[in-house]
Amino acid sequence: MRRAKISVIGAGNVGATCAHWAASKELGDIVLLDIPEREGVAKGKALDLMQCAPIERFDSAVIGTSDYKDIANSDVVVITAGLPRKPGMSRDDLITTNVKIVRSVSEQVAKNAPGAVVIVVSNPLDAMVYTAWKTTGFPTHRILGQAGCLDVARFRCFLAMELGCSVEDIQALLLGGHGDDMVPLPRFTSVHGIPISMLLSDEVVNKCMQRAKVGGGEIVQLMGTSAYYAPASGTIQMVEAIIKDKNRILPCAAYCEDAYGVAKGQKGAGYFVGVPCVIGSNGMEKIIEVDLVGDERKLMDESISHVKDLVGAVRKIFPDLA
Ligand code: APR
Repeated sequence: MRRAKISVIGAGNVGATCAHWAASKELGDIVLLDIPEREGVAKGKALDLMQCAPIERFDSAVIGTSDYKDIANSDVVVITAGLPRKPGMSRDDLITTNVKIVRSVSEQVAKNAPGAVVIVVSNPLDAMVYTAWKTTGFPTHRILGQAGCLDVARFRCFLAMELGCSVEDIQALLLGGHGDDMVPLPRFTSVHGIPISMLLSDEVVNKCMQRAKVGGGEIVQLMGTSAYYAPASGTIQMVEAIIKDKNRILPCAAYCEDAYGVAKGQKGAGYFVGVPCVIGSNGMEKIIEVDLVGDERKLMDESISHVKDLVGAVRKIFPDLA
């Protein structure tokens, strides 16, 4: 049986940690690619990871490179190239620099790994997924953004801390863009099937939601740069679903037109927004639409409108991406 191949572009904190989780789960062979000036870093990290193999017992090969030919025949390409946040910055502040980077990476991905499913992690996420889509020209089901897996993991983590129970037993759903206006949905949050409202007060649930929304910023303040263990872990959750064709239901940034009223009836004019998706070997197999009520609809509309503004900003600065 052929081993799966996973290429990770950007061998920085998020990229190298993606390679780490992917290798430790033995998901396939891994290519870690960075710019020529940082080829030594990519090669060094790859070698370091390979030397864990006898201890951690995986047979994945990990190679470092700056040559895009090495990503040929990838099943999945993860894009983590780009600047991370510094304290005081929002994700949106990174837009101009990171669009240039993600565009140049996406051109190479289209040329060298034309059959891959692409997962974008670089921020501001919703604008970067759009950039990767426009640049590669890949069908929409093969372009995904990682945000929801991370955001929902943060929410579940804070709820488990309040409840003193296993994080494994908490199910939660979260929609919208990867900004502070993401939309956690307590109505769809439960603990081993028990609605969260039966176990925690609204006040405590709201506190957890708020902390999840600004969870990235909390870590930037503490470390001086953005998080990487959990962003990489969320990414590899998606990679695993694709490689193993698991049809897992995961919250991902996926292309929506009619879904969730993002661009109703406007063929080809949709946006990538965080929604629950079935994730399998084709990438996004299906979007699952749930009926939103009251405030949920209002908050989702606000979040969608922020995503549209971000993409609008990309189109304004880079008219060729319109
Ligand atoms: N091609 C390939 N790699 C690139 C390119 C490029 N054109 N431009 C930059 N890189 C590489 C950098 O050399 C660096 O190794 O991307 C890597 C980024 O690593 P870090 O600076 O450690 O940033 P990281 O914390 O990994 O975050 C990367 O993911 O979660 C997001 O907000 C985060 O946008 C940021 C991205």
